[in-house]
Amino acid sequence: MSRIPVMGDDLPATMRAMLGEEFELLPWDDALGSAALARAEGLITYGHPRVDGPLLERAPHVRVVSNHGVGVDHIDVAACAARNVVVGNTPGVLDAATADMTFALLLAIARNVVVGDKFARSPQFTHYDPSNLIGREVTGSTLGIIGLGRVGRQVARRARGFDMRVLYHGRHRQLAAEQTLNVEYVPLDELLARSDFVTLNCPLTADTRNLIGAAQLKRMQPTAFLINMARGGVVDHDALVHALTAGTIAGAAVDVTEPEPLPRNHPLLTLPNVVIAPHLGSASDKTRRRMQEMTVDNLRAGLRGEPLPYQVRPAK
Ligand code: DGY
Repeated sequence: MSRIPVMGDDLPATMRAMLGEEFELLPWDDALGSAALARAEGLITYGHPRVDGPLLERAPHVRVVSNHGVGVDHIDVAACAARNVVVGNTPGVLDAATADMTFALLLAIARNVVVGDKFARSPQFTHYDPSNLIGREVTGSTLGIIGLGRVGRQVARRARGFDMRVLYHGRHRQLAAEQTLNVEYVPLDELLARSDFVTLNCPLTADTRNLIGAAQLKRMQPTAFLINMARGGVVDHDALVHALTAGTIAGAAVDVTEPEPLPRNHPLLTLPNVVIAPHLGSASDKTRRRMQEMTVDNLRAGLRGEPLPYQVRPAK
């Protein structure tokens, strides 16, 4: 039996085991320059390689793009649809893990977890000083969630455990969620002005690119924190660096940046009032396992010409 050629040589052993012997895994690295692309029948995007029209032009046999993750901003879904290439993703399974990480970063920046860790390991920690590293109380504070989708709603649920007042902003009001989660819809400017913590939990789209720039950061309180769990492109990084150095806001915790990773000499990496994680939102054992299974299921269905269990539709 000949093996089906699929781009995706960077996959973990668990996922290779799920794929079994049926597939020949071709290298992504030299994708544009190699003959591999011309042979591939499916693409697995593991770690956000860009898939666009020019790439698809060189991949005439590709029938499916199976994305490991829910966000597909690195895939030109319209260009895929124009070539009858179906796109799959992994919605739903990562909401809890990503909401957990939203709170991990929120607590880390509010309560000096990272600077505290460095200090506790250093020779400067000679005695317990109650005046040192006083953080911001999270319990009872106001949280503003931008993007009350599947992840944003899970963030709101966790916020209840911290007795937080929860505001949200998004494309649509969500009347049912307002009742069940006790969240209040407000315009973006009001959310920014009233929140002690602003979390970004929206997808990156043409509408949300640079949603948070200099003007929006100025609307936030100087004591407030920004947490970006969405995509780097939602925030204007130059404006963020300026706001953090000028004291426009108190701090930021980001799981994502643009570019990703940032150049090693980027000023954001030097600021003490920033916590940065290397895109760990969904990186829990249970969630990643399920994401791998869904990615493989989508790939197999697409190659068989069947509807994908989790299919991304092009935006209208
Ligand atoms: C997602 O699911 O979009 C995460 O960011 C991982 O890619």
